[in-house]
Amino acid sequence: MPIDFDDREEQTEQEERLLARTLTSADDGEGSLRPRFLTEYIGQEKLKDNLKIFIEAAKQRREPLDHVLLYGPPGLGKTTLAGVIANEMGVNIRITSGPAIEKAGDLAALLTNLDDMDILFVDEIHRLNRAVEEVLYPAMEDCALDIILGKGPAARSIRVDLRKFTLIGATTRAGQITAPLRDRFGIVTRIDLYTTEELSRIVTRSAGILKVEIQSGGAAEIASRSRGTPRIANRILKRVRDFAQVRADGVITRAVADEALGRLDIDRIGLDAVDRRMLEAIILNFGGGPVGLDTLAANIGEETVTIEDVYEPYLMQLGFLARTPRGRCLTERAYKHMGIPYSMGTGDQMTLGG
Ligand code: ADE
Repeated sequence: MPIDFDDREEQTEQEERLLARTLTSADDGEGSLRPRFLTEYIGQEKLKDNLKIFIEAAKQRREPLDHVLLYGPPGLGKTTLAGVIANEMGVNIRITSGPAIEKAGDLAALLTNLDDMDILFVDEIHRLNRAVEEVLYPAMEDCALDIILGKGPAARSIRVDLRKFTLIGATTRAGQITAPLRDRFGIVTRIDLYTTEELSRIVTRSAGILKVEIQSGGAAEIASRSRGTPRIANRILKRVRDFAQVRADGVITRAVADEALGRLDIDRIGLDAVDRRMLEAIILNFGGGPVGLDTLAANIGEETVTIEDVYEPYLMQLGFLARTPRGRCLTERAYKHMGIPYSMGTGDQMTLGG
C-alpha cells in the first residue's frame, strides 16, 4: 500500500508527544549532573550490587534485562538509574510517562518502534489507564501485541510479534500498581532516601562538573539540608553557587552554604516553608493530630498527592510524623523542632514508637 505522507507526518508528531524525551545531557537542569554508569552512581549500594549481577548475566546470555520496576519518593534518581541501566547494557532508551500514553494505539506505536533489546522507560507507570495497561501484559510476557480487528461478534484478534525489549517502570506509589502489572516485572526494587554522607559525595561530584570550588564543610551543609534527595541537593548547590559567586569569592564554604540556605528559607534540617506550614497547621489547628489527609490538604492549600509523595516521606524519616489509620499524627520531636511545647496539643498525640 502506498505510504500517505500526511499520515506519516502526523504519526511522527504523535510519537514526539509520546516520547517526552530521550536521555540526553541537555534534557533538564539535572542533565549534565546525571551519572551515566554504575561506577559514577553514588549510593543505593545494595541495589547497584544486584543490578550489576543481573546486567552481567543478561549480557552474557545476549538477552535483554528482565523488566524492572523502580519505586520510591520523587527526586531519588529513578530516571537516572534507567539511563545508567541502558548505558551498561549498551542499548537505547526511550522515555515516556503513564499520563502521556492516552490510548492503547499510542503504546502499540511506541512498542513497534523499539529496536531489538531497547529499553522503554515509563515514568509514573501507576497512571497508565486500564486499556493501555492491558496492551502491556502480552508485550511484557510474550513480546507480542494482540490487535483486535473489527467489532462485535465478527471481531477477531491477531498477534503481532515485537522485538525483544526491557520495560523499566517508575512510580512514587507502588501501592497503586495493579497486581497483574506488578507481577510481570522480574526485578522490583525500592529506591531509598540517601544518607547525608552519600549526598555530600553527590554534591562534591556535581560541584566538580559545574566547576565550582567547594569545601567539605560546604558540601556537608548542603547535604544535611537536602532531605535525602539528590535532585534537591543539586538544585540547592546551584543556588548556593550563585551566592558564592556574587557575595563571596566563588568558593562554597560551610558559612556561605549556611547563609544561602537561610536566605532560601531552608532550615537546619532541610525543612522548607511548606513543611513548616504543615507542621504548624497540625499542631495549632488539629491538636497535633490525628487529622485526615484530605482535611490537612484543604487546610494548608496543597494537593493530597503532593503531601503524600513530596512532604511526608522525609517527615516520617525524621520521626516527626506518623500515618495512623485515624489520620496523621505529629510526634514530640516535631513539636521540639517547631519550638512549641508538646503539652499544647489536645489530640491523642504520639511519642516515637507509641
Ligand atoms: N546525581 C544525582 N543522583 C546521583 C547519584 N546517585 N550519584 C551521582 N550523582 C548523582
